[in-house]
Amino acid sequence: MPDALELLKTRRSIKPVELDGPAPSAADIETILTIASRVPDHGKLVPWRFIVLEGEARLAAGEAIVAGFLTKYPQANAEQIAFERGRLARAPLVIAVVSRAAPHVKIPEWEQVLSAGAAAMNLVLAAHALGYGASWITEWYAYDRGVLDALGLCANERIAGFVHIGRSRARPDDRPRPPVAEIATRFG
Ligand SMILES: Cc1cc2nc3c(=O)[nH]c(=O)nc-3n(C[C@H](O)[C@H](O)[C@H](O)COP(=O)(O)O)c2cc1C
Repeated sequence: MPDALELLKTRRSIKPVELDGPAPSAADIETILTIASRVPDHGKLVPWRFIVLEGEARLAAGEAIVAGFLTKYPQANAEQIAFERGRLARAPLVIAVVSRAAPHVKIPEWEQVLSAGAAAMNLVLAAHALGYGASWITEWYAYDRGVLDALGLCANERIAGFVHIGRSRARPDDRPRPPVAEIATRFG
């Protein structure tokens, strides 16, 4: 297991197409989901949940993506349709992080959404800590009602991200990071 600080200092997203199989084992998926669930959660509302997409299920979800795509682009060609069908099959494992934020007497929805973001980030970090590469993306289909229906999302639920996980084929260079001096100020 990598040193925690080193992991946090060096983590980079790995593109879905650069994530190969085999998929994480059931035990690793359980570890990833356990760590993803261990996040601050004002009111203990558990305002998030996860959907695991593996194997053929990724292509079944891809059919809903194709349907949504064809509604927008009825003239799409076979190559484009095949690409959309394979959207969730680029990496061996995809875990959808679903925000369940809803109006509450005490806890602002904003805080519930933030907790879902924390769950997604913990999920990414857990995957990296286990030696996998990961990428937190949404893409257009995260906002398509037909795709959300196919995945079983209720009206108040939203996709926080589709986290793609696999064995990293690439070791990409880092991207520019904002200098701390530019993003942090001292009050007073
Ligand atoms: C909510 C959310 C949605 C994102 N959706 C996409 C996306 O659809 N496509 C994409 O290329 N990057 C997306 N990103 C950005 C990547 O997760 C990633 O941060 C970016 O590729 C930079 O890589 P890094 O993690 O190595 O800094 C999203 C990030 C967040 C937080």
